[in-house]
Amino acid sequence: MRLEVVPGARFGEVCADEFLGAMAIDKSPFFGLPTGSTPQPMYAELRYRAEFGRANIERVYAVAIDEYAGPRDHAGSNHAYFREHWMTIPGARPVFEFDTRALDYDIEAARMEDLVHTLKGLSAAFLGIGLNGHLAFNEPGTARHALSRVVELSPESRGAAAAVWGERTPWLGLTLGLGVLLQAKRVYLLASGPHKAHIINRALTGEISADCPASFVQDHHDSVVILDEEAASELPRSLVAAKGDAATTHG
Ligand code: PGA
Repeated sequence: MRLEVVPGARFGEVCADEFLGAMAIDKSPFFGLPTGSTPQPMYAELRYRAEFGRANIERVYAVAIDEYAGPRDHAGSNHAYFREHWMTIPGARPVFEFDTRALDYDIEAARMEDLVHTLKGLSAAFLGIGLNGHLAFNEPGTARHALSRVVELSPESRGAAAAVWGERTPWLGLTLGLGVLLQAKRVYLLASGPHKAHIINRALTGEISADCPASFVQDHHDSVVILDEEAASELPRSLVAAKGDAATTHG
């Protein structure tokens, strides 16, 4: 596990550098991409660089790692999020995504699982972390090899979604399984803000267990954790200060 701790103002830049660096993993890089507030500075930085001809993401194939089981045109859907934050980056290809217009969500989830395998798995999975340690909508209790599927959203996930969905907050979600996410050649875990400090400490230093799906990142063969200083604030100093391969801090 490589740990990068960066000042908040540099979070987007460092994530964008990693994104562009991860394009070297495969000739046709295939990335799992997250929604939420955490990756917004990364997408904004990629957009800025692409607009000025300083980054080219045309080679990237991307899949949305999850979706709410609700109307896709609602402002709270991940479909709407990708339209706003991803498709506005010059050169971005449309993301593969769960289509909530599907008649049968089980079949739709299986279609997405197959799609990832057909494209020979993810080159990199970019993941945020929920306050309960979820990865995409793989909530606590999810087995490490879980398939892509329909899930009941946790109270924490519904609480976060309610800010945009209000009374129409979906009860279900569609998610890529931990299996395909953790089989990515490289896994990135991104977190920012003081509210993530506690769960980050638990995920990175606690027991590796389904109780905290993000803890599985600890023993992925190529995982990179990018934190701003606030999200890293509860980590043991020894972990953050270590230099070399294990951890780097950016001043
Ligand atoms: P956030 O969501 O980036 O909005 O904090 C992360 C997550 O729930 O995975």
